[in-house]
Amino acid sequence: MNLLNPVKQPNDFFATNNFLMKSIKKSPRNRTITLSKIELEKYSKRLLDLKEKASVRDVINKTIHQDLFKAADLLPGNFVDLLIIDPPYNLSRTFNTNSFKERSVDDYAAWIESFIIKLRRILKTNASIYFCGDWHTSISIPLILQKYFIIQNRITWEREKGRGAKRNWKNSSEDIWFCTVSKKFIFNTKQVKLNRKVIAPYRDSNGKPKDWQSSKKGNFRLTHPSNIWNDISIPFWSMPENTEHSTQKPEKLLAKIILASSKKGQVVLDPFLGSGTTSVVAKKLGRKYVGVESDRYYACLAEKRLDLAEKDKSIQGYEFGVFWERNTMPVSIKTTRNKQKGQQS
Ligand SMILES: C[S@@+](CC[C@H](N)C(=O)[O-])C[C@H]1O[C@@H](n2cnc3c(N)ncnc32)[C@H](O)[C@@H]1O
Repeated sequence: MNLLNPVKQPNDFFATNNFLMKSIKKSPRNRTITLSKIELEKYSKRLLDLKEKASVRDVINKTIHQDLFKAADLLPGNFVDLLIIDPPYNLSRTFNTNSFKERSVDDYAAWIESFIIKLRRILKTNASIYFCGDWHTSISIPLILQKYFIIQNRITWEREKGRGAKRNWKNSSEDIWFCTVSKKFIFNTKQVKLNRKVIAPYRDSNGKPKDWQSSKKGNFRLTHPSNIWNDISIPFWSMPENTEHSTQKPEKLLAKIILASSKKGQVVLDPFLGSGTTSVVAKKLGRKYVGVESDRYYACLAEKRLDLAEKDKSIQGYEFGVFWERNTMPVSIKTTRNKQKGQQS
């Protein structure tokens, strides 16, 4: 029974792919991951196209190139520990060969509900769910999530980049809604502490640091993770994780979610995989992964990044088991890391 078909290439695919059509001259410092026509052919062969109900074994550590609304009904039940959802936000936008049309708040809510209903079935009873949005889609998201899950928190990510507006506040934040299926769930606080530079290094009467550590690398305090995240920049062209996907999430952001809400060996699923950030970080952190993406070029970018993760497991901003505040990582650590990378490549 041929349940999992390798995806076939439509004849006109190469002609219609926006990225392949553009031949961009990259500056030497531009590390953006792209795909050649040959790579696109190579990685396309690894993608799955589900034709009938799949088993866990069929889909584990795979990228499914399919419309989520078709794939969701064919995924196994009760197998996902962590679901990370980063759907198109409510804006008219093109994702390479896909486009999303802005709709009313009510219609966006109805659209969210139409896939949440399908995805509920694949979750384990102690699973966690993270759902990304902006201020606008956050009007709809919690209204739907609270119908099916227990909302535990809303994380606000200050993502810095955003267009300045003449008659409104610049939009520089995103929301990530954290939910669970039941009251039983895991949360690994210790793994997601943030190493902050100490501004006022108080010492006790014996001259010992008060709640901070003094080291050759500087004075740092390991702080409790809060629901305001301002230590993560969006990927930009000189970063090795950067791809051509216009709404790619940073690996550091996914690392926080995955470390806090899953254990090694557990299954992380992303139904709007894009350039593959969730699967890549899950792999780097020793989790199993499944991704669904309906655009072939993005699905192949995910596969290429998964290949690169075989050799390089580093996550920018997360070093030696600790998250570092932006631009505070000691130069000595960066140098060691860069030397190690040089030896690997
Ligand atoms: C916001 S982006 C996700 C970006 C991703 N988090 C990353 O780091 O690259 C949403 C993605 O969903 C994909 N998409 C939109 N509708 C889809 C559908 N019905 N089924 C599967 N994928 C879809 C788009 O092609 C796009 O790549």
